[in-house]
Amino acid sequence: MTVDNLTTADEKIVYDAIVIGAGVIGPCVATGLARKGKKVLIIEKEWSMPDRIVGELMQPGGVRALRSLGMVQAINNIDAYPATGYTVFYNGEHVDIPYPYKADLKPIEKISGLVKGGNDKVLNDSTIKIKDFEDDERERGVAFVHGKFLMNLRNIVAQEPNVTRVQGTCIEVLKDNKNEVVGTKVDIEGRGKIDFHAHLTFVCDGIFSRFRKELSPTHVPTVNSSFVGLALYHANMPVQNHGHVILGTNHMPIIAYQISPEETRVLCAYNSAKVPKDLKSWLAKDVQPYMPKSLGPSFDKALESGKYRAMPNSYLPAKSNDVIGLCVIGDALNMRHPLTGGGMTVGLHDVAQMIKKIGDLDFADRPTVLDELLDFHYEKKNYDVVINVLSIALYSLFAADNQYLRALQKGCFQYFQRGGDCVNTPVQFLAGVLPSPFKLTKVFFSVALYSILINFQEKGISGLPMALFEAIMIWVTAVKVFTPFLFKELSS
Ligand SMILES: Cc1cc2nc3c(=O)[nH]c(=O)nc-3n(C[C@H](O)[C@H](O)[C@H](O)COP(=O)(O)OP(=O)(O)OC[C@H]3O[C@@H](n4cnc5c(N)ncnc54)[C@H](O)[C@@H]3O)c2cc1C
Ligand SMILES: *[C@@H]1O[C@H](CO)[C@@H](O)[C@H](O)[C@H]1NC(C)=O
Ligand SMILES: *[C@@H]1O[C@H](CO)[C@@H](O)[C@H](O)[C@H]1NC(C)=O
Ligand SMILES: *[C@@H]1O[C@H](CO)[C@@H](O)[C@H](O)[C@H]1NC(C)=O
Repeated sequence: MTVDNLTTADEKIVYDAIVIGAGVIGPCVATGLARKGKKVLIIEKEWSMPDRIVGELMQPGGVRALRSLGMVQAINNIDAYPATGYTVFYNGEHVDIPYPYKADLKPIEKISGLVKGGNDKVLNDSTIKIKDFEDDERERGVAFVHGKFLMNLRNIVAQEPNVTRVQGTCIEVLKDNKNEVVGTKVDIEGRGKIDFHAHLTFVCDGIFSRFRKELSPTHVPTVNSSFVGLALYHANMPVQNHGHVILGTNHMPIIAYQISPEETRVLCAYNSAKVPKDLKSWLAKDVQPYMPKSLGPSFDKALESGKYRAMPNSYLPAKSNDVIGLCVIGDALNMRHPLTGGGMTVGLHDVAQMIKKIGDLDFADRPTVLDELLDFHYEKKNYDVVINVLSIALYSLFAADNQYLRALQKGCFQYFQRGGDCVNTPVQFLAGVLPSPFKLTKVFFSVALYSILINFQEKGISGLPMALFEAIMIWVTAVKVFTPFLFKELSS
């Protein structure tokens, strides 16, 4: 790793690209563009390793995007934990949902100039085995300590000769008299407020983005729920290498996944942006009793430790990048519910698409770049819409707060229990490898029909009139939790 000074960047040159933020997305944008021959400046307010409970499980679609970008080795040498699928628990019963077969998917695209010297293949380390990742007949995801993964991405970008890194806080997006973006003002400790200029400025400032509003004042997220996170150590996971989704009639969804050989992350949903004051008693009363038995001891220890952290779950449909000189991408552009762990996957896929679209253009030709970015918005949509709408619809079902949603939740679980295509297709949506909103719609309403059928069977002949009424209500509920979001995402 090069150890150049992080405060000395030249402000007199016009860069091809400025990247604001070095979270998950920023380093990938900067690396990809540099490998396409662009001169890039990347600005991050804090280059040392962050400690966060976000972005810890990457779906296979995200791993595939990292391969396309020639950056997949960022998952190596950080004690990352391979993920081979999910297990869904419902009132104590469970069903396994393994990730899709590679043979069912399109080959991974290698972006020219970015993939070289085998950087699209994982390396062998103590937890990631080449053989498993490259030769397994099924796709793999991976979980890790977020900060360690980020440091790997940042080390990769640091090795690009055409990238200059700066430590500082961007305080303003600079515009010229035509209201076009020309760079950013950065507050650099010991140097002051410096203006940097570029043909194209990428806003990758993440969840709490300050600059997403440059696209439109209405481009702001809504928050309806939170996740409370705990760290379990040496937990006895019911199913090795699977993400666990724990559902039930009487509680909010809980997710648990191992992120290293020692550590397991548990995220407990709470149906409001504001979490209870006394988190410990809430966790003890409304979460602990519903944890799978084998996780009991390590969960109790985590509960005792008193270390809980809450994060808001934000929702924000993407918007097209229609301002000359600006490209907002990653969580700054688009957010969905973290229940399905889709954030990094959407962001990385967007980066790969974006670089394919504009990576070979001359960024000084700003109108052409704008045209291509407008096309990019529509071309990436099908991929992102599936992951985004799935996350919102599943959260509604899994956090069911009325009887019709509970009927859909039960129907969804029993649909998975049927196995075969009833598992294989849904997991392709989850994994980020089936970019078809049409197929998602078909599957979602098949689940709704199945829920109605189950309800008829349970009510029997004597309950028929009630079940008929409920059938309508279940259907209406399904339409209500799915269609508005599908529409919003497709039309945004
Ligand atoms: C509770 C929770 C759990 C999640 N779990 C998962 C998961 O399991 N899997 C998954 O794929 N996704 C998950 N996500 C989503 C995932 O975290 C995001 O999609 C991902 O982090 C987005 O990357 P980003 O680079 O856009 O933003 P970020 O990762 O937020 O990075 C933004 C970067 O910009 C820097 N920055 C911000 N402002 C400035 C400024 N003014 N000047 C300079 N630098 C700045 C920040 O320091 C930071 O480094 C989760 C989200 C939440 C809320
Ligand atoms: C760096 O950028 C210059 C043009 O600005 C280009 O000629 C050179 O090949 C680039 N270097 C790399 C390693 O991409
Ligand atoms: C990877 O490492 C394992 C042991 O950790 C070893 O058995 C295996 O042969 C290695 N594979 C390759 C391709 O180097
Ligand atoms: C959040 O809640 C509001 C008000 O109840 C609702 O209209 C909106 O659809 C919800 N958003 C999400 C993403 O669930």
